[in-house]
Amino acid sequence: MGLGYVGLPLAVEFSRAGFDVVGIDVQQSKVDQFNRGESYIKDVKDSVFKPLVESGKLRATTDFSVIGELDTIDICVPTPLRKTKDPDMSYVVAATDAIAAHVHPGLLVMLESTTYPGTTDELVLPKLEASGLRVGQDFFLCFSPERVDPGNAKYQTSNIPKVVGGITQACTEMGALFYKQALETVVPVSSTRVAEMVKLLENTFRMINIGLVNEMALMCDRMNIDVWEVIDAAATKPFGFMPFYPGPGLGGHCIPIDPFYLSWKSKESGIEARFIELAGYINGRMPEFVVEKIQYALNEASKPVRGSRIHVLGVAYKRDIEDVRESPALDIILLLQHLGAVVTFSDPFVPRIRSNGEMLESKELVSGVKSADCVVIVTDHTGLDYASVVEHSTLIVDTRNALKGFRSEKIVRL
Ligand SMILES: NC(=O)c1ccc[n+]([C@@H]2O[C@H](COP(=O)([O-])OP(=O)(O)OC[C@H]3O[C@@H](n4cnc5c(N)ncnc54)[C@H](O)[C@@H]3O)[C@@H](O)[C@H]2O)c1
Repeated sequence: MGLGYVGLPLAVEFSRAGFDVVGIDVQQSKVDQFNRGESYIKDVKDSVFKPLVESGKLRATTDFSVIGELDTIDICVPTPLRKTKDPDMSYVVAATDAIAAHVHPGLLVMLESTTYPGTTDELVLPKLEASGLRVGQDFFLCFSPERVDPGNAKYQTSNIPKVVGGITQACTEMGALFYKQALETVVPVSSTRVAEMVKLLENTFRMINIGLVNEMALMCDRMNIDVWEVIDAAATKPFGFMPFYPGPGLGGHCIPIDPFYLSWKSKESGIEARFIELAGYINGRMPEFVVEKIQYALNEASKPVRGSRIHVLGVAYKRDIEDVRESPALDIILLLQHLGAVVTFSDPFVPRIRSNGEMLESKELVSGVKSADCVVIVTDHTGLDYASVVEHSTLIVDTRNALKGFRSEKIVRL
């Protein structure tokens, strides 16, 4: 249920394992594309997807009554934040209500959407038990965090260990048995709350470490120290250190969002999640810092930012993917537009974006670079011709160290 970055690859893995799989989504256009055998997720190749759809073993529908015929259901719907940084549980609630209307004896329900500890037992369970069926006996309920890393060629849905925790021991056993049919490694834990917290620990760990290294970058900038060289040298320590890299800010549907599910919930227990708030503040300030860097670099070249042509390289939130959700590039572009700059962009994965009420189309790399007063590398996609970027630009602000190894007066690094 929910055929996005998480649901589609999962449906494919279970179909490949020989199961009859039905994907359910509320978007008719997505369902139609699915049923034509056209993958809209880059990590799922049409060569794998199409034959499964054509075999009739994998299909999609917007008709929720199909739940009445299913043995298992995985909820993979969005869990965004509201503007106030509170969890928006409306998708999970809608999905659960749809299941509750069709819950039947023997059904195994898995929640995979990232969420705060307690969601499965406090929010999902009562809705399903309202049917009169008992969990652990009549139906089974688990939480299993999705850990997929879009664009990662080595670790994908099938070989990322799957943590699963049930409401009861029987639920955990049922959930583990289910995932073992299609995935390489299953890690059972004692409860849904442990499983929910595992995901939040992982993503909070990343968010805070990125916050720390971004603060290091701000300090190094003032002290005129190359933060990238510092990290590379520190990473030679064979124990007790793990490198994280600074950048223009956090993006995607996970790292900037998930930790706030935890800080929101921890307030209920009287604990203020200070590390999360602090890292959130520092990471959230990075787009402004990048814009300051651009202004400073243009100033050195005696050009005011107002009226300058600025070409952004990469608008996806990370390298080699097409996802622009929460991308810091969008913040940087908007800030530059507000300052009166004329902004263009190139991204091989993203054809167009909307900013400040305007539709911007991705430009051809070299012509975009040639016509700009300043080029800003926001996403370090691999396979871009960085040598040409350096050759044809007059000024470059590199927020990702994509030009490591290039030496030129016109390169300004984060
Ligand atoms: N994208 C990632 O890399 C990633 C990684 C790990 C965990 N997650 C988590 O997984 C969950 C899903 O994320 P995603 O990136 O796949 O989102 P997505 O936006 O790509 O896909 C979600 C899908 O759910 C559908 N949907 C919404 N409401 C629905 C409903 N009531 N019934 C059926 N379908 C519905 C949407 O139309 C959409 O197709 C989120 O909680 C996210 O935090 C995402």
